[in-house]
Formats: sequence, C-alpha cells, structure tokens
Amino acid sequence: MKTDTTTIDIQKASKSKIENVDFNNLVFGQVFTDHMMVCDYKNGEWQTPQIKPYGPLQLDPSAKVFHYGQAVFEGMKAFKDEKDQVWLFRPEKNFERINKSSERLAIPEFPKEYFFTGMEELLKLEKDWIKKGFGNSLYIRPFVIATEAGVSAAPSKEYKFMIICSPAQAYYSGEVRVQFSEKYSRAADGGVGFAKAAGNYAAQFYPTNLAKEEGFQQIVWTDASTHEYLEEAGTMNIFFRVGDKLITAPTNDRILNGVTRDSVIALAKEYNIELEVRRVTVKEIVEAAEAGELKEMFGSGTATVINPILGFGYKGEKYELPNMEDTYARFFKDKLTKIQYNQAEDKFGWRY
Ligand code: COI
Repeated sequence: MKTDTTTIDIQKASKSKIENVDFNNLVFGQVFTDHMMVCDYKNGEWQTPQIKPYGPLQLDPSAKVFHYGQAVFEGMKAFKDEKDQVWLFRPEKNFERINKSSERLAIPEFPKEYFFTGMEELLKLEKDWIKKGFGNSLYIRPFVIATEAGVSAAPSKEYKFMIICSPAQAYYSGEVRVQFSEKYSRAADGGVGFAKAAGNYAAQFYPTNLAKEEGFQQIVWTDASTHEYLEEAGTMNIFFRVGDKLITAPTNDRILNGVTRDSVIALAKEYNIELEVRRVTVKEIVEAAEAGELKEMFGSGTATVINPILGFGYKGEKYELPNMEDTYARFFKDKLTKIQYNQAEDKFGWRY
C-alpha cells in the first residue's frame, strides 16, 4: 500500500545520536531517535507537516493540554526484515483509531495523507534505528495535544500532531501477574475508555501502584457498575484460555479496540481455535482457576505484543497458572511476529 506524497518540510539533524545507544539494553520508551514529525493546527486547518530534529517544545503554561488533558495518542511499530526492508503492521487501524479518539476529545480530524507521508518520510530518516531480529522494533508514538493558550474549559483552537520514535525490545522486562480490580475502574459507559486518551492512562497509575505493592504488575479492570466482569488490563487487552477455549471481552465504550487483539482473533479463526468473544465474569475465571481449568491468561498490545500472565490475585487470594509448553500465547506470538518481520505469508494483508 502506498499513499500520495505530500509536501513536507524536512530539516535534518546535524549529527545522529545513534552511536551513543546500547541497542542490546533498551528500556522501553527511554531513548528517542534523531527526528520528530510535527504538524500544527491553527486558523481552522492543519498546516504543512514538518520533520525536524528531536527536541523540547515550547508551550504556553496555560496550554489546554496541561489543564484539561485534551490529548490522544497511538502506539505502532516498525520492523526490519532480513533484506533490510521496513514494515509497519496494520497502520490503517492506528490511523482510524487516532481520529476516533480525537473525535471523542473534540480534536479535529488529522488528514490521512499527512499521517502516512509524514510517517514514511520520518522512517526513511530513522531506518538505521530499526534493528533486525525478532524482538527488535521501532516503537512509533503519534500523538495530538491541545496547544492553545488559555484556561477556559473549552476545546482548544490550536493543536500539535506529532510523531516520535523509540527503538524498542520487550515492554515488560520481568514476569507479569495481575490483580482483578475490586474497587477502581478504568472506564465507564459513555466515557472515553475506547479512546486512546492520555488521561485514561494517568488514571491507572494510582491503583496500579497499589497493586504493585501487593506484587502485581498490572490490574485487570472490571466494569465500573458491578465489578463482576473482566474487561482490559493496564496496557493490554486480555485473553483467557479455559480448557482449549479462548475467551476475550467484546470491545465497547469502555474497552480499547486493540490492533493486536483484533489480529489474535483473526488468527484464532484462521487456525480453528475455539474462541468466544463475550463478557467474562470474575466468578467464572476464579472458578476455572480453582478447578484447574484455567490454562492461560495473556495480554495483547502493540508495545507488549503477546504477554503471558503467570497468575492473578482477587480478594486477597493468589492464583498461579500452570506452566505449560504449548501455550496459545507462544502460538500467537510466533504467528504474529513472523508476519510482522516478513518471515511468513501475509494472508490477511497486514504488512505495510
Ligand atoms: C501500546 O501498546 O502501544 C500502548 O499504547 C501501551 C502504552 C501505554 C505503552
């Protein structure tokens, strides 16, 4: 797939920082490449996109993003194959979703040709930052912030759309156990849970810190009204394997429509894995764990890809999952990464 070319102002960095980077010891999201894409919205329209050296922004302290959190973001990855070709994975989905998120946050729609041409030009400049080999990627973070000065609580009239990139390896460096939420919730009906709104993530930090004190890396959010249904984990959608059946919650107002989640569902159908997309109760998962029928839990997300979950906690009890060789988590991770790194046929047309 190729998009129309658009004029972009490109200002190259005078010197690359790449020599200072230890690509074998990357901490997720700490190192950024030499350039960034910036596109301003003012006078009712998006201006010419620019690519410039990565660096700090100057914003008025009253800019609305600081006060009202009018901001959305996306997470994508670029992969390099053995022939040095660079691939994105289903970028159309991220493009559609950022505008869906923006609409909900009263942010103007971003033009498709700017999104794709800006990203392509940026990746051409940063291709040396994308390392070959499974597990290496360039994490791409498009985002939009409200930049208009003034603390009146109304949508900004000015924005910045930006893309920054960070070389990445694993998202979680250790084991992941999760706590099922009894009190806090991530999202409510009619709210912004389905959007990648910056504030959705900020609101998770405090309850997640509490869970960490009890030895859990993430929370599995339950529905706000009853806390009886399992919905989504902090940075991932979540899948349960009971016997050989895979179960995941349907997306709705509260649950992010993850690209990796959607890909796992498509792969499960392709490989005839029994799959139920339906509401999942805390009760059934606790009962399945007690009966030894809960074989696996795993999270899916762009940053984390497929992350096995080793155990969970609920109401002070801790449950460990069996340590199995043939897991669905491994199966899906293998299928997905082979497509992402151009090492398998792309039946679904996911590579770009
Ligand atoms: C992603 O998987 O890209 C995410 O958005 C998770 C992020 C909060 C690190």
